[in-house]
Order: sequence, then C-alpha cells, then structure tokens
Amino acid sequence: MLLQLDDVHTYYGEAHILQGVTLRVAPGEVVTLIGRNGAGKTTTLRAVMGIVPPRAGRIFFEEAELTRLPTHEIARRGIAYVPEERRVLPNLTVLENLRLGVLGGGRVSHAEDGAVVEGVLTYFPPLRERLAQKGKSLSGGEQQMLAIARGLVARPKLMLVDEPTEGLAPLLVRKLTEILGQINRHGTTILLVEQTLEVALALSHRLYVMDQGRIQFEGTPETLRNDPVIQQRFLGV
Ligand SMILES: Nc1ncnc2c1ncn2[C@@H]1O[C@H](COP(=O)(O)OP(=O)(O)O)[C@@H](O)[C@H]1O
Ligand SMILES: [Mg+2]
Repeated sequence: MLLQLDDVHTYYGEAHILQGVTLRVAPGEVVTLIGRNGAGKTTTLRAVMGIVPPRAGRIFFEEAELTRLPTHEIARRGIAYVPEERRVLPNLTVLENLRLGVLGGGRVSHAEDGAVVEGVLTYFPPLRERLAQKGKSLSGGEQQMLAIARGLVARPKLMLVDEPTEGLAPLLVRKLTEILGQINRHGTTILLVEQTLEVALALSHRLYVMDQGRIQFEGTPETLRNDPVIQQRFLGV
C-alpha cells in the first residue's frame, strides 16, 4: 500500500471532525474522495499532510508512519499537496512559481531543475506560453494548472489534489480531467477530492464517499454508478 489511514480522528478545537477515517491508496491508483460540503474531505488531505495532525489513529506512507511528522518532512517523503485555494503567488512569474515547487519538494538537485520543469510543462501547453507572466495575470483554469504543475515538479509519488475543477468552465473541466489522467498514467498516484460526480467516475480506479467525517461507501466507479441510493443520500444526485 502506498498510503494508509487507520481509524483517523481529527479535531478543530473541540469539534470532532474526522470520526474514524480508514482508507487505502495503492501505487498507481487514482482514488477519489467525494461528498457534500463539510463532509471532511479537505480535512482528510490536511491530516495526511500533518497540517491537522490526527488526535487518534495512524497514517502510513510506504509502510512508514507519518502520523506525528511535520509537514515539510511528509512532503520530502514524496507527497505533494495542491490545496483548494491554489495559492499561486500573484507577483511571481509562472516560472518562479514553478521553481518554488522544486524547492518545496526538496527532492530535486539544481542541475536537474530545468529538465524537470520542462518535463512538467509538456502537460500544460498554456503555461509554457506564459512562463514570464505574473501569476495574477492567469485565468482561473491556468492558475489551477500552475498549482498542479508546481506540485509535480517535486516529482511526488503521491499527489493530493483538492477540487481542481471547482469553478471552471466545462471545457476546462474536461481538459483538466484529461491532464490528471495523463499524469496518473505516467506513474503518479493521485488522491483526489472532487465534487463533480462525472469527473470522479471518469478518473478514479476507486472512490470513497464521505459524510459527517466518516467513510460511508467504498467502491469502483461501476458500483457507485449503479447505486442510486448512495448517490441520493450522500451526493444529492
Ligand atoms: N479551520 C477550521 N476550523 C474549524 N472548523 C473547520 C475548519 N475547517 C473546516 N472546519 C469544519 O470541519 C468540517 C469539515 O470541513 P472540510 O474538511 O473542509 O469539508 P469538505 O472539504 O468535505 O467540504 C466542516 O464542518 C467545517 O465547517
Ligand atoms: Mg473541501
């Protein structure tokens, strides 16, 4: 198993948010967390990154325990986090934003920088044309591409991507879905949070439906597609 959460509980102050989350991600998979707003999807990713450390339960990456490690050490082991709010630096250029990803991941030597950035840019033609532009001049879709690209330049084994298609026009949603699929087929395992059922079904090998801080369903796209009860109860479809 690449990533494993065992009975993870987290709190924000007194509020008990994750209430025993258990999930697995195998090497090579796209696994998606889906569920209503407030279900605990983002908190699950933040727990993996050590931003909201579990008060109970354990997290393993490549069989080594991550549970009490600091965020930078978790990143160094090969996990990249692309948060919901993207965090593109507005006054740095696209290329400068990308280089920050290299530094943040800390797994790449300077000599390799250029080649790694070049490699990542092959997924994102619009970014290649805008390397010298400021982050703030990019469209929403381009900023999302940059956030994902910045995660990739650290050459992670696992990428956590939180709602990449949120707020994007349908054409861009399709484009980004395609790109995430390519990234996965080229060897990066992905734990995705996605609210759009069709995107989740198209990309995932397996899905977990979350509600109220718990996993309520686990299965393949096939089983979720054929389960109107789960769809209605937890996804409001
Ligand atoms: N920083 C925070 N402080 C207090 N409560 C929070 C914080 N972030 C999220 N929550 C609460 O935790 C629950 C889960 O939130 P979140 O993981 O962001 O859900 P999702 O990503 O599935 O929409 C929600 O009830 C939300 O209000
Ligand atoms: Mg969220």
